[in-house]
Amino acid sequence: MEFSIKSGSPEKQRSACVVVGVFEPRKLSMPAEVVDKAASGYLGDLLRRGDMEGKAGSTLLLHNVPGTEADRVLLIGLGKEKEFREKEYRSAVATAVRTLNETGGFDGTIYLTELAVKKRDVAWRVRQAAMVALETLYRFDQMKSKKDEVRRPLRKLTFCVERRNELETAERALAEGEAIAAGIAMTKNLANLPANICTPTYLAEQAQALAAEYGLGIEVLERADMEKLGMNTLLSVARGSHQPPKFIILKYAGGMPDDKPVVLVGKGITFDTGGISLKPAPEMDEMKYDMSGAASVFGTMKAAAQMKLPLNLVVVVPTTENMPGGGASRPGDIVASMSGQTIEILNTDAEGRLILCDALTYVERLEPACVVDVATLTGACVIALGHVVTGLLANHDGLARELLDAGQEAYDRAWQLPLWEDYQEQLQSNFADMANIGGRPAGTITAACFLSRFAKKFDWAHLDIAGTAWKSGKEKGATGRPVPQLTHFLMARAAAKA
Ligand code: BES
Ligand code: MN
Ligand code: ZN
Repeated sequence: MEFSIKSGSPEKQRSACVVVGVFEPRKLSMPAEVVDKAASGYLGDLLRRGDMEGKAGSTLLLHNVPGTEADRVLLIGLGKEKEFREKEYRSAVATAVRTLNETGGFDGTIYLTELAVKKRDVAWRVRQAAMVALETLYRFDQMKSKKDEVRRPLRKLTFCVERRNELETAERALAEGEAIAAGIAMTKNLANLPANICTPTYLAEQAQALAAEYGLGIEVLERADMEKLGMNTLLSVARGSHQPPKFIILKYAGGMPDDKPVVLVGKGITFDTGGISLKPAPEMDEMKYDMSGAASVFGTMKAAAQMKLPLNLVVVVPTTENMPGGGASRPGDIVASMSGQTIEILNTDAEGRLILCDALTYVERLEPACVVDVATLTGACVIALGHVVTGLLANHDGLARELLDAGQEAYDRAWQLPLWEDYQEQLQSNFADMANIGGRPAGTITAACFLSRFAKKFDWAHLDIAGTAWKSGKEKGATGRPVPQLTHFLMARAAAKA
């Protein structure tokens, strides 16, 4: 898709289709008013006759509207003006792009970006529009023998801004939106792939490709390297599988050489059967998404590198399958982590924390500015927060605040849960330094408590994306979250330094 920014009058656009909004009930938005004037009240008449109420999600495609230069005018229902906020804006853009793609024209000129959204400026509107547009057109058909081809697909989208002095800001926001969307698409592609293709080896190859594309530093540790480092908890998970584990490190140097890096760690379980503590059969296929954390930190790396953000970033991905093979851990087994702390594995299905704890110990040597891990860690998080927000826990309030704010700005939100000492006792073990599970109560918090014991030496936050990384049911598919949140977090850090 080719994007551009423009400022100018809608009736004068030589485009296959000009898109303007209509509020409910029957109220033309400003750009629609301008078209209506040029067309001597043509749109107003249509509304009065009852052809368009302006209900959110509704559309009306008009051809050869008098007084206009475009082949078509597409009206998009926006709902009530008073209730028009971020969510409504995003769905209006999605509806516009979906409709344009199903309509004959190769290009569209969208005026929805001129609409006022409470507390949001033109940069936000354009950035979000680019992200929403590319997300709307995203398809995962790599594995289908016949792709559903769109007859005359949309090739070019133009977003309009009211004033010429907004052009520069809008151009920059557009580039940001496109970079984030590219990151989201990469994350979705990796996460949607089945586990027989997306193995730890495949993830390492994709990281190599990303490194080559953007000139990143890369290191991939093999089993023998991990043994030398003493990553025994990670290796204990890998022993149930025939797939070799990998430990991937990607480095982007956009900052000064001695700037401490932001470190992102992503859980890369390419399939989670539960191990010997086997999961029940229903929906087990969705455990191919258990590497969504890894996919999201790769996607964020792509977005940051494409934007050329002026900071240093390291992405770390411990990756393995969790399978019930002959070498798999048994409930009750005790392993010594890389940190030296010993762990009683009471449930082999709590494997995410076992690979992350060694990764957290490893990243100490990177002298991080801060560390954020991203993981589909607990079913309990889905129960607590559903599929709306990501769970956030942190050992540093300032870092938590930055991530919460970034989530708001990106419209990819998180909600903080307490990481209080009081919960730590649930991890008590009679036989080792700690157990790997903390019982049913507060499962998301005790999982984070476990990780916190390996994150004492730096500012650290944990994002539990179990509820937000993918959708189930008819629209099953990866969401690309939290790439928008993480990228906005990095953008804000970069801007604060500059
Ligand atoms: N990958 C799962 C968490 C998960 C489950 C995410 C369902 C999304 C949907 C994780 O490895 C896991 O199995 N966690 C266990 C922990 C328990 C054994 C303490 C869980 O949540 O049941
Ligand atoms: Mn598990
Ligand atoms: Zn898991």
